[in-house]
This record gives sequence, C-alpha cells and structure tokens, in this order.
Amino acid sequence: MTAVESHRVEAFAGELSLPGDKSISHRALITGASAVGETRIFGLLEGRDVIATANALRFLGVVIEKNYDGSWSVFGRGVGGLSESPTILDMGNSGTGARLLIGLVAAHPFNTIFSGDTSLRTRPMERVMAPLRHMGAVFTARSCARLPLAVCGSDLLCPVTEKLDIASAQVKSAILLAGLNTRGQTTVIEPLPTRDHTENILAAFGAEISIEANDQAKAITLTGQPEILAREIKIPGDISSAAFPLVAALITPGARITIENVGLNPLRTGLLDTLVEMGAKIKITNNRTATGETVGDISAKFSSLQGIRVPLERVPRMIDEYPILAVAAACAEGITVFEGVSELRLKESDRLSAIVEGLTVCQVKVQETEDSLTIIGEGKPPLGGGYIATNLDHRIAMAFLVLGMATAKSITVDDSSAIDTSFPGFEKFMNGLGADLRVGVER
Ligand code: S3P
Repeated sequence: MTAVESHRVEAFAGELSLPGDKSISHRALITGASAVGETRIFGLLEGRDVIATANALRFLGVVIEKNYDGSWSVFGRGVGGLSESPTILDMGNSGTGARLLIGLVAAHPFNTIFSGDTSLRTRPMERVMAPLRHMGAVFTARSCARLPLAVCGSDLLCPVTEKLDIASAQVKSAILLAGLNTRGQTTVIEPLPTRDHTENILAAFGAEISIEANDQAKAITLTGQPEILAREIKIPGDISSAAFPLVAALITPGARITIENVGLNPLRTGLLDTLVEMGAKIKITNNRTATGETVGDISAKFSSLQGIRVPLERVPRMIDEYPILAVAAACAEGITVFEGVSELRLKESDRLSAIVEGLTVCQVKVQETEDSLTIIGEGKPPLGGGYIATNLDHRIAMAFLVLGMATAKSITVDDSSAIDTSFPGFEKFMNGLGADLRVGVER
C-alpha cells in the first residue's frame, strides 16, 4: 500500500491532455479482436484495467502488440474466432473488462473461467449471467453470483430481445457482444440511455446496428455474425479522468486549466451539465468527431459553486463522477442532493458509504439513505484533515486527493495503487499543474 498526502495549493494552472478513455479502450481491443485484419489503436489507455482485458484476449488466442510509435495493434480473429484459454482469466479490478468478456466468450463453444482482485470478486455478476442464460449460455459461479465464475459458451446461442431493469452499459454491451456471434437479431431495451461506445464502435467497424428510441426506452438491435473489418481507432482522453483536474480547478482560487482532446460523448457529459448548473465556469471548444465519438477541449477556472438537486435521470450520464461531484458539492454554498444513486454501492467499493465516511472525517455534513446522498456545503472548502480508506477504489482515492488541494488541513488516502487502473501517472499530472500530492512510502 502506498499512502498519498494532498496539501492545499496556492496555484493550479496549465494545459494538459489525458490518458485514453477507459470504456473505449476496452471496446477497441475487444472489437479489434473480433474483426478481420489488423486494428491499429492510437491513444489506448495503458491502465491496469485495460491491460487486463488485453491479456485476457491474448489467452483467448488474439495477438496484441504495442508498436514503437506507442500505438497498439490487434490482429483480429474474426467474429466467433476466439479459442479456449489455457488458464483462468484474471480481470484484476475491472468490472467492465470482466462483464464485456463474459458476454463475448458466451457465444464461443468452449469454457472460460474468470476471476479478479478482492474488489471485483465482491461485485454482482447475475446482471450479465441472467440475460446470457436466456440466450443459452450456462454458468457456474460462486455464491451470490460472484467471481470466480465459469462460462460454458456455445456458438449456437439464440438471439433475444432483452429488456433491462437497470441502466447499465456493461450489461447492454455483454448482451450485444454475445449477439455478435449469434445468428439473427439481438435487441437490448434500456430504461434510460447509457454510454453507447459499444454500438458506436461496432457500427464504425461495419456491423449492422439500429436504434429506436422514445421517451420511455431505447432499443438497440444488432444483426449477428457480421464480417467486421479492422480499422484505425483514435481514442480521446477520458472525461471520467478529466473530471479530477476539472473539479480541482473549480475549487482552487485563481486556477485556470485547459484539458485537450477529451471524449465528449453526450451520454458521458452529465458532470459538465451538473457543474454548469452549480455555477462552474466551463467552456468547450474545438468540437470534432473521431471514430464515431464527439471530442473537444474543456477549459475551466475557479468558480463559486451553489448546491443543487441532481436528478435520477442523470445517473447513467455521470455514473462514475459522483465521488468527484461530492467534492465540488462539499465546497459549494448550500445543499446538494444526489437522487437515485443506489448503483454506487456496487462499484469498485460501496461508493456511497465511502463518500459519506470520507466527507465526514473531513468535517463535511452529509446524510445518506439507501439510494440518495445529501451534502451540506458552506460556500468554502471544509477543514479537511481526514485519513481516507480507499478499499481498492481509484475514484475514491483521486476524489479525496482533489479535496485535499483546497482544505486547510491535508488529506491522506491510505493506498493510491488502484489509481493506476484508470489514470496512470495521476499524481504526476496533478503536481505538474501545481498540486502538492506527496507520495508516501510502501507500508
Ligand atoms: C462502464 C459502464 C459503467 C461505469 C463503468 C464503465 C462501461 O458501469 O460505471 O465504469 O465502460 O460500460 P455500469 O454498466 O455498471 O453502470
């Protein structure tokens, strides 16, 4: 475990571009593996989660190499072309890697066993197993549908129309990836639209995807067993990583930063809308499109923030951003309420409890229910001084290090190692802009 202390900063400014989007990186590797030919990926996130997916695909027979220019090449096996892994696939901390690959291998005629770290082994997998069982896949899992689990796949799955109870891009993607090697049309109906990177990337590679949406639901239909052709992919910076320097700028007096080349998929930008509603001075420039995704530059400067109500409908568009939004809310004037956030209890840690415990030890008033959180801000940063248990959760670690940049007393996180899963080099990036993050000794 490596503890990190975050001390108050006087200045935070500069221009930066960030490591690649984690969600798109997993999908780029998986889609490249299913395509015919060499897919060249620029800007792949080299965080531990994505590397776990690359290694798992290698065990499934895919050749993946890093090139001298920093790009990655995936030599695809074609749809349905994976082969049985000689070993258990260790997905580390990555729920996305695990759930997407469970869907992909479910439509292959061999058995695959998945495991992960102590955090991933507590996370619920029934949400992907249930729909894949409807298609004909068979599973054996530990009690409460936890990893390790074994998938008995088949290349004769039935296409289904699956109506999801929860808005989850991972579940949607697992079903669509199983549908990729299933004859006929597989349809997923979402209660609220979630990030559509899987649909975008499959369509960009030539798969047939159709979308029907109304006020109640969104239906995504994939025609199975297409021939998808390798292509070049440029992955933008991760808005979920940008969220940390962005909020750091908003709560540090005098701060002004620009983050270049950030993915701005409208199903990922809920945090930007929320912060603007709170009074944040944020500007988007240089909007463009790359491999089916919207990209742009984000500028932000110190702002006085007001508490607001964050409605349930916004949850899927900012599901990973609640820990850092809680930091903004703790420095804002008045009450902020997060509604309908029970899914946060099922992330890399129970994030609702982690936010409540962390803010409380930093002298912030909070109230928690099973699915909501109320944060009472005083229009200035709280006193701070807390020691935060991160429980292998990268976003809890980064959020509290950002809060420590504004509090009078420094904040310490007990273990920064999980940060590498999504934002390798976080401390260096932040210190480069003026943060004072002191990385401690191994314990
Ligand atoms: C992700 C979907 C979200 C998100 C996760 C990445 C994805 O999970 O929290 O970090 O890449 O599909 P859920 O599908 O569980 O909401």
